[in-house]
Amino acid sequence: MNNAALYQRSNGLQRYDVQQVLKFFSHVLKWRPDGCDSLLDIGCGSGDVTIDFILPILPKNFKRLVAVDLSNDMIQYARENYILPNIFFNQFDLGTDVDKQSLREIEKFDHITSFFCLNWVKNQQTAVRNFYKLLKPGGDFLVLFVAYHPIYDFYKKQSKSKRWSEYMADVDEFISPYQYSENPAIEFRDLLTECGFSKVNVETLEKCYTFNGSEARNAFNSLNPFIDRIPAENRQEYLDELMNLFVDAGFAIDEDNKTRRFAPMYKLVVAYGTK
Ligand SMILES: C[S@@+](CC[C@H](N)C(=O)[O-])C[C@H]1O[C@@H](n2cnc3c(N)ncnc32)[C@H](O)[C@@H]1O
Repeated sequence: MNNAALYQRSNGLQRYDVQQVLKFFSHVLKWRPDGCDSLLDIGCGSGDVTIDFILPILPKNFKRLVAVDLSNDMIQYARENYILPNIFFNQFDLGTDVDKQSLREIEKFDHITSFFCLNWVKNQQTAVRNFYKLLKPGGDFLVLFVAYHPIYDFYKKQSKSKRWSEYMADVDEFISPYQYSENPAIEFRDLLTECGFSKVNVETLEKCYTFNGSEARNAFNSLNPFIDRIPAENRQEYLDELMNLFVDAGFAIDEDNKTRRFAPMYKLVVAYGTK
């Protein structure tokens, strides 16, 4: 995921779901009496969700808002577009033990948020241990991630076709670790408690979001981990095929090619807890 500008133009689903989650769950974050809170947002992408939705819930005199992402392109984009006091953007890999990474601004945090990032991380145990290590005692977290999405089944299908297999050999690395789980919420709750969190709450949300055709195509393009490997002249064909898999699975809600909208069903997990 490196195309920050395209992601920011087509992340309506993420923006909508994060707003909803903050509306219903942000009260679980307990602010310090002095209001000098520090918050770490993991997997911040192009930075707009951090700035538009997380910054406004912070106390006015918050101490630090640090937003991190694996992708250097995302971090560069966010740094160029959001130059604000006490807000820092850094590169960080949630899937690698924090003790082995040199992260600037590494002191522990009062709060962690992470939206639509955990589904990208294969090593869930390392990710959750990182949450634990990065929180102060009594610190809290609120996370949201994709447990199930039909696009992962379509990736799998494309990866088996002769046409695309050479670009998708590592497809399993990019499928949500909970795609085939019978109960993602229980699985994640057990992991949180195993990693030391005591007070946790985990829920699965069944969702559907309606995209118009070009928005869906841009969104699935900006999030596609394989597209940059495909020769430029074949990328449109690859995306056409991916969009047709949504149509074949019954997720298109208009017949006309031009006005077609897409409404895939997917599952999210929302989790919060305290160290
Ligand atoms: C779908 S975007 C979400 C961005 C933002 N949180 C939002 O809600 O719009 C997922 C982000 O997670 C980042 N990411 C993927 N794997 C990661 C990892 N191991 N550590 C940190 N960030 C990661 C990607 O680079 C991408 O920017």
